Amino acid sequence: MRRIGVLTSGGDSSGMNAAIRSVVRTAVARGVRVYGFLRGYEGVIEGNLKELTRRDVSGIINLGGTIIKTARSKRFFSKPGRKQAYRTLKDNKIEGLIVIGGDGSFRGADIFCREFKFPIIGVPATIDNDIVGTDLTLGADTAVNVVLDAIDKIRDTATSLERIFVVEVMGRGCGYIALESALGGGCEEAIIPERKYNINKICTSIVEGNLKGKISWIIVVAEGAAKAQDIAEEIKKRTSLETRVTVLGHIQRGGRPSCRDRILAARFGNYATELLLGRKKAKAVGIQADKLVALKFKKATDNKKWLNTDSYLRLIKILT
Ligand code: F6P
Repeated sequence: MRRIGVLTSGGDSSGMNAAIRSVVRTAVARGVRVYGFLRGYEGVIEGNLKELTRRDVSGIINLGGTIIKTARSKRFFSKPGRKQAYRTLKDNKIEGLIVIGGDGSFRGADIFCREFKFPIIGVPATIDNDIVGTDLTLGADTAVNVVLDAIDKIRDTATSLERIFVVEVMGRGCGYIALESALGGGCEEAIIPERKYNINKICTSIVEGNLKGKISWIIVVAEGAAKAQDIAEEIKKRTSLETRVTVLGHIQRGGRPSCRDRILAARFGNYATELLLGRKKAKAVGIQADKLVALKFKKATDNKKWLNTDSYLRLIKILT
């Protein structure tokens, strides 16, 4: 291959820039030119691309967001949109593509690979950590650390004013961010989509704790399980204790990537490029027990991710 493309697609996540850097520098070292498509698949459809040299990716390893922008492209999920995208790739003599994104981006890549026999390698990047077959996706570790930092700060007010805090975190249908940050943050409960929660039980344990002199609680709620506001109102109604709500929102997606995410980005970007230049197609890279793996797109997106849910929930209960 002489010319390849790279794009970021879907929600941004910390580590995307570090992955772009890794892709560009790996390819350039092999004498291959890299073109960045702007705004994900939209850039491929519109022919919006620019060459990325070694210099273009200097000083970005520590930056959140993505220097080539991202988008959730509806047009790529239509046949005419994909036809137009293929035309752009042919016109620009792009022989393979690296897609840095989440499950939606991989589904699009899978369809495109099969339709046009065009080589695409995916790099899993989403704070949700919901891609099956990889222990971690880019940005999830940074997001958990952002939440942890917020929980540590919230704890100051929770203990000083003797309050119950309900903290809502992102993750779509996946409870990863909530589970990790609740256990790491020493919180009393994690409400996640993978398990039914019992508001009665939660309130009973609050009342019992309160009778024994416990004065504050931090309850982490994954957005896919419930709304923090509803949980807080219910707790207040049933216990008569003061509650406050914090919805962390998009701060979880931005900021400097953690060291773990930067290293993951370096490894994912390098491996994905090696696979693409080795003429592999329709695979997503992943990591399992510190070993890099290549997964079929379908396998990475079709099933529900297995989390260490019950042992985490048990530990949260034992340690609070
Ligand atoms: O998939 C990443 C994610 O941040 C989810 O956790 C969240 O539900 C969603 O994207 C938010 O999307 P938007 O940025 O479009 O509001």
